[in-house]
Amino acid sequence: KVPYIVSGKSYTAVAINAASKAGEWIKSRLGTVEQLNTKQSSADLVTEVDKGAEQMIRRLILTHFPDHAILGEEGVEPGAEASARALEAAREEEYLWIIDPVDGTTNFVHSLPFYSVSIALAHRGEVIVGVIYDPSRDEMFVAEKGKGAYVHGNRMQASREETLGDSLVCIGFPPDRAYAQPLNMKITQVLTPQVRGIRALGSAALHLAYVASGRLSAYCEIGLNAWDVAAGALLVQESGGTITDTLGRPYDLSVRHIAATNTAIHSQLIQVLKEADATGL
Ligand code: IPD
Ligand code: CA
Ligand code: CA
Ligand code: CA
Repeated sequence: KVPYIVSGKSYTAVAINAASKAGEWIKSRLGTVEQLNTKQSSADLVTEVDKGAEQMIRRLILTHFPDHAILGEEGVEPGAEASARALEAAREEEYLWIIDPVDGTTNFVHSLPFYSVSIALAHRGEVIVGVIYDPSRDEMFVAEKGKGAYVHGNRMQASREETLGDSLVCIGFPPDRAYAQPLNMKITQVLTPQVRGIRALGSAALHLAYVASGRLSAYCEIGLNAWDVAAGALLVQESGGTITDTLGRPYDLSVRHIAATNTAIHSQLIQVLKEADATGL
């Protein structure tokens, strides 16, 4: 059974159905990966499942919207410069789908059931639909611009903590060992003694979905790409949360260093990042 297939051909329905079908296939491949390829370092993995899922999602989208543009992680050369170039070339498209077929590839490869499919649709650079699917828990997170964010059809609301001290905060460690990892370690070091708990679960998209659903108070990470963040950014905004760059400036598709919170603790988090000189900006 493929869960969450919805009827209709709206952008959101197509995104949900593509995430659902790809997610089911990805889950069926858990523990079967034989060939492991690396991109820029031994921490930067890609498998035939990443590529197969991206192809599947592309096909499903283009069946319905043949003249829309698609930016998918596995269609772009590795590295920050190539990602920036690919985004620059695509961001003015009238309709641009931004896909991360498997977010959390390292978890997937290790059979750790915390990974997701992330699909966003941007209209002239502004995200209007965001869908993140977690096949392990069968959870479909959906947001439409101006219409709220939902999981299992229930409206999501970011959490209520008002201080960092009461907050559960998530961080991440991208494969870029030279630049991003040291900064994220610095953030971890300054935040850990100031918050209730710190976590790194290994899927940027699910971290953002969890900020939107109130399971995490905040998430920040240096060194992400548009496909890690686009769908989750809309989920956070539509659930009453806030997402900015690490200096507190508004989110757009080119922001790679992100801070996402329940809004109440946003300025406190940005302040800590600035004081520690850990914004990467
Ligand atoms: C990665 C995951 C990870 C984050 C990295 C991302 P991928 O995406 O989201 O949590 O720390 O920055 O690159 O490569 O598994 O799609
Ligand atoms: Ca990757
Ligand atoms: Ca990713
Ligand atoms: Ca990926």
